[in-house]
Amino acid sequence: GTSLDAKIKAKGRDYFGTCTDKNTLSDPAYEAIVIAEYGQVTPENSMKWESTENVRGNFTMSDADFLVAWAQQHGKLIRGHTLVWHSQLPAWVSAITDPVELTSVIESHISNVAGRYTGKIHHWDVVNEVFNDDGTWRTSVFYNLLGPKFVDIAFRAAKKADPTAKLFINDYNLDYAGPKVNAMVALVQRLIADGVPIDGIGSQAHLILNNGAIPSMHQPLATLASTGLKVALTELDIRLPLPADATKLMNQRDNFNLATAACIRVPNCVGVTTWGVSDKNSWVPGVFAGEGAALIWDEKFAKKPAYDGAEAALLGW
Ligand code: G3I
Repeated sequence: GTSLDAKIKAKGRDYFGTCTDKNTLSDPAYEAIVIAEYGQVTPENSMKWESTENVRGNFTMSDADFLVAWAQQHGKLIRGHTLVWHSQLPAWVSAITDPVELTSVIESHISNVAGRYTGKIHHWDVVNEVFNDDGTWRTSVFYNLLGPKFVDIAFRAAKKADPTAKLFINDYNLDYAGPKVNAMVALVQRLIADGVPIDGIGSQAHLILNNGAIPSMHQPLATLASTGLKVALTELDIRLPLPADATKLMNQRDNFNLATAACIRVPNCVGVTTWGVSDKNSWVPGVFAGEGAALIWDEKFAKKPAYDGAEAALLGW
């Protein structure tokens, strides 16, 4: 095959994926690219807590159901995203003050959401973004009431709900050596020692054009893989100062080449997921004013030089 997904599979990896959801798939130009080039879809928002259980015990799954049905119809793998995260978390969860109650709320949420799709999800991002950049634990209702053991609770519940999904912990700024990578490795080693069912570490890879860490990104990824778990680049994008011009797009091509190569250079890296398809729909401009153009297709769904960069990494390393 000629797609990015076919090429990464030829390297023995599981998928080249993208986030999407009903909203972006409703654009035929966008949908056609996902069908043609990608082998895995990650729900951008539809499986998050505020989408699935915004009111306690009332599970609203129609957008998540849409994504799962779409993926099955088109033969795409699914990365479930995400069961326990401090963000996009309903206020009623954050308002809980009793650790016993919070434990049962986490278990119920995971049993309902992950249990709904048993056997259909390739990877689950069970917990997301638990560390600060300095390697300390991020403050959240989960950490404040339960300490680090909220992670154990979530993984054990996910395993019970979906025994065949590979269970991941996911975070950002794991692209360079330092305290956050060290904290992740230490946590994973502790989970493994305690018999907690965990299979992988996701490195989001939200990158900035020409960031100095990009050429050596394979090194921290290999450090994560030294735990023996699978690793993956789960949310790759490379934002640049707008407007884009030819020089920036060539630099972005080279950056996409090195970022994709980072996965190929690490034997345990099972796949690359870009955080969207087209610059038209990316989260970046809404959060970083004046930045954007972070993906492989432009606002008009034309392939950017980034495509050649990613493709060359899948052929050349
Ligand atoms: O659905 C509501 C809609 O009802 C409302 O009218 C509208 C008004 O603001 O908001 C809509 O919700 C938005 C949601 O996306 C769905 O479109 C939120 O405002 C918006 O904040 C939310 O942004 C998402 C963001 O996570 C939230 O933190 C982005 O689409 C999504 O790409 C982004 O993804 C995250 C990963 O999950 C984790 N890693 C970082 C990554 C980038 O922030």
